[in-house]
Amino acid sequence: MWAIGLVVVALVVIYYTHMIFKWRSPKIEGVLPPGSMGWPLIGETLQFIIPGKSLDLHPFMVFNFTAHKIFGYDAENSKETLSKNYTKILNSFISLPLNIPGTSFHNCMQEREKMLKLLKDTLMERLKDPSKRRGDFLDQAIDDMKTKKFLTVDFIPQLMFGILFASFESMSTTLTLTFKFLTENPRVVEELRAEHEAIVKKREDPNSGLTWEEYRSMTFTQMVVNETLRISNIPPGLFRKALKDFQVKGYTVPAGWTLMLVTPAIQLNPDTFKDPVTFNPWRWKALLHFPSQPLI
Ligand code: HEM
Repeated sequence: MWAIGLVVVALVVIYYTHMIFKWRSPKIEGVLPPGSMGWPLIGETLQFIIPGKSLDLHPFMVFNFTAHKIFGYDAENSKETLSKNYTKILNSFISLPLNIPGTSFHNCMQEREKMLKLLKDTLMERLKDPSKRRGDFLDQAIDDMKTKKFLTVDFIPQLMFGILFASFESMSTTLTLTFKFLTENPRVVEELRAEHEAIVKKREDPNSGLTWEEYRSMTFTQMVVNETLRISNIPPGLFRKALKDFQVKGYTVPAGWTLMLVTPAIQLNPDTFKDPVTFNPWRWKALLHFPSQPLI
């Protein structure tokens, strides 16, 4: 019996040694990029999932606003405080994918299921009872179900979940930082006000809504938006998967590797942006070519 056990242990050791060897020395022509490969098999996942938050904000207001626009969620009168579910999801979003009770990942998946059920129940209610329609995103999706095959009763809740998730922390963090930068830079507020007042002055009806042309003419506002996004660095980076080997500066990135493009390294690069941590919307005057540069 012990011999069988020994063979199994030996096979497991050989298997993992082979995996580690394959991971350390992928079959490529050329040189791997320099830098740490981290631990065998898990790389630097542990370092990555250790939270590195420098802002502790409460994004519930943006959540309630977006949820209202998407499926008519009424935060004040609802039994459920959905922003809490989303906060729990967000807190365990980057975690080891171990779906066993008690782990962050498991809790995240459970909260996600709860949210998806609630969104699907709302969709089914509206489908059954058209008097519950409110002219929001969900109603538009229901109308589009007639012509767009991919909009099924299972896909629409996923879509709403995704949009809520994408807008939740990104927008609240960006808005909070925008107000912080504006408070600290009254000259910027002055110039923004002048730009907006000039637009309103030109209008025939001062109470009419913002037009596309007006929006495109807001060059200074766009500079403030660019500068806020540049300096805030809301996402830590962008992820992509290498579908085939490719070369960068003499190094070979092997197919199958996941790449993280660290956008803050570009946005805070002093060679591109002088005094990169200074909030200076005017720097975009030289970087953008108005008005030929599209504003979105
Ligand atoms: C200032 C606020 C925001 C920032 C900084 C931001 C940033 C980003 C970034 C960096 C990505 C990944 C892009 C990529 O990997 O190529 C992304 C994707 C996405 N964002 Fe945002 N976002 C913001 C607001 C929003 C809002 C308000 C919504 C929806 C209402 C939204 C919806 C999405 C969606 C659906 C994707 C996935 C797109 C795809 O995979 O093709 N985002 N966002």
